[in-house]
Amino acid sequence: MRLLFELLGEHQTMPRAEVLACIEAEGNSCEVLEEENRILILETNADPDRLGERLALTRYVDEYLASGSLSELEDATENLPSMSGSVALRRRDLRPKPEKSSMEDGVDKISGILTKNNPVDLDNPDNEIRLISGKNNYLALRKAAIDGSSYGKRKVDRRPFFSPISLHPKYARALVNLARTSRGKTFLDPFCGTGGILIEAGLIGAKLLGSDIKEDMIEGCRENLMNYNLDSVLFQSDVGEIQENVESVSSIVTDPPYGRSSTTMREELGSLYRRSFESFSDVLEKGGYLAMVLPGKNYIEMGEEYLGLEEVHEQRVHKSLTRFHCVFRNY
Ligand SMILES: C[S@@+](CC[C@H](N)C(=O)[O-])C[C@H]1O[C@@H](n2cnc3c(N)ncnc32)[C@H](O)[C@@H]1O
Repeated sequence: MRLLFELLGEHQTMPRAEVLACIEAEGNSCEVLEEENRILILETNADPDRLGERLALTRYVDEYLASGSLSELEDATENLPSMSGSVALRRRDLRPKPEKSSMEDGVDKISGILTKNNPVDLDNPDNEIRLISGKNNYLALRKAAIDGSSYGKRKVDRRPFFSPISLHPKYARALVNLARTSRGKTFLDPFCGTGGILIEAGLIGAKLLGSDIKEDMIEGCRENLMNYNLDSVLFQSDVGEIQENVESVSSIVTDPPYGRSSTTMREELGSLYRRSFESFSDVLEKGGYLAMVLPGKNYIEMGEEYLGLEEVHEQRVHKSLTRFHCVFRNY
């Protein structure tokens, strides 16, 4: 099937990478057919509903129907296979400076063709056709909408155990996807803190292992995971000693301390990260992925001494902090 992904505009590279990683994690394949700023069109055997449940940085997953000028889309609409049930045409303008008047006529014509044989239902249509305009125009049938508000509802201040050190759940989920985390496979966060990353991995069905040097974090993390009915094995451990409790894991996702608000237990960052990479290369299975947030390019180079670097997604937080969302693989 040809799928069209409408990506969130808040990051340049991560939404696209998350889609491709998710498809791989689900054991499916894909080929990129067309893309522009916030649109990605793929030929894939992946299930759009499952992708919709997993993705964080995508807004809609649609079945791609056609692309081109509005008059080409009118022709394509005439030739669509017949649909059963009601229809609604929704307009989505992703152009930086939309000129509405130039398109209204074409949009009305497409709407007229769609409603020739099917009743209109704008509130709860059986078929939601989306006409999306960017550099090109696209016609697509909505398959799944990502519930962005569900990520907001899991923000750190909404959990029973609170500490202001946690990533936004949307980015925690994106990292879990970038690490190709799979249902039923073993997943580890060795700096688990309040459990924000473990919650996202648990909600897609991974087997959870978590550790932290601080016992109070482990207790709080347990409380937070129980709040989402997620089973886990949690243990108190320094990152350098996780091998004592963990034999092998399929993926690791982690947000270590950056030496600011979250404690490194007075250890210098370079030393903490080097010990981390040593442990991760020991416990990560061959072919397994590590997605890790790092606060500087020098630490990425350090990681490459232990694992293969696959992707880096840079995110400037403020003047003195840039987060590098890095994906490594154990070859
Ligand atoms: C940025 S926080 C993790 C936040 C977490 N993602 C969350 O959702 O709450 C980093 C965590 O690393 C832990 N930590 C610091 N040094 C450690 C070490 N040497 N080994 C294991 N954990 C450590 C801290 O106790 C803290 O909970």
